[in-house]
Amino acid sequence: MRVCSDKYTDREIREKLRKKLDTGRYEHSLGVAYTACSLFMAHGHGEISDLSRAYTAGILHDCAKCLTDEERDKYIRKYQVELSDTEQMQPFLIHAKLGAVLAKEKYGVTDPEILSAIRWHTTGCAGMSFLEAVIFSADYIEPNRKMLPMYPALRPLLFSDLDRAVCDILRYTIAHLEEKGQLIEEHTLEAYEYYKKLTGAD
Ligand SMILES: [Fe+2]
Ligand SMILES: [Fe+2]
Repeated sequence: MRVCSDKYTDREIREKLRKKLDTGRYEHSLGVAYTACSLFMAHGHGEISDLSRAYTAGILHDCAKCLTDEERDKYIRKYQVELSDTEQMQPFLIHAKLGAVLAKEKYGVTDPEILSAIRWHTTGCAGMSFLEAVIFSADYIEPNRKMLPMYPALRPLLFSDLDRAVCDILRYTIAHLEEKGQLIEEHTLEAYEYYKKLTGAD
């Protein structure tokens, strides 16, 4: 599958990424890439240029996930990445914002919408573009994920009603974070309000 990079071939991107991720994370990334392509096809976007963008955002979405703390802090300083209070308190969130920066700087991706889909894949945000919503949801449902009780209904729903399924994922995410006593990013709460209103969900 073609990767949208100005600097590297598809094979080079996969080889670079494979060295930076552990095996499970690399397989998850492939799972997100192909799930994103499938969602594009199901929603009427079958052109190879569309699928390449879905694949690129999917395969690179976690490119900053397996950095050591030192590497992460080095890149934050080098690229002057500004962190929110929630990101400072819960550093695992940083990989989304930093991933968008590294996809550009280290993998040669310049398409702003691909970078933005990587940026928002963890928290979601209100009014996501189709690609952003697809990557956000593909990350949640791709087939390598450990089975969750809602999957048998949620996975097909994404292929028929993307907005409604995004709303459900946001609701599950918020409930899960509350249960674990973790902070909830304001963008996630705003996104949930937005999709609840959009879909008329309770
Ligand atoms: Fe992630
Ligand atoms: Fe992921």
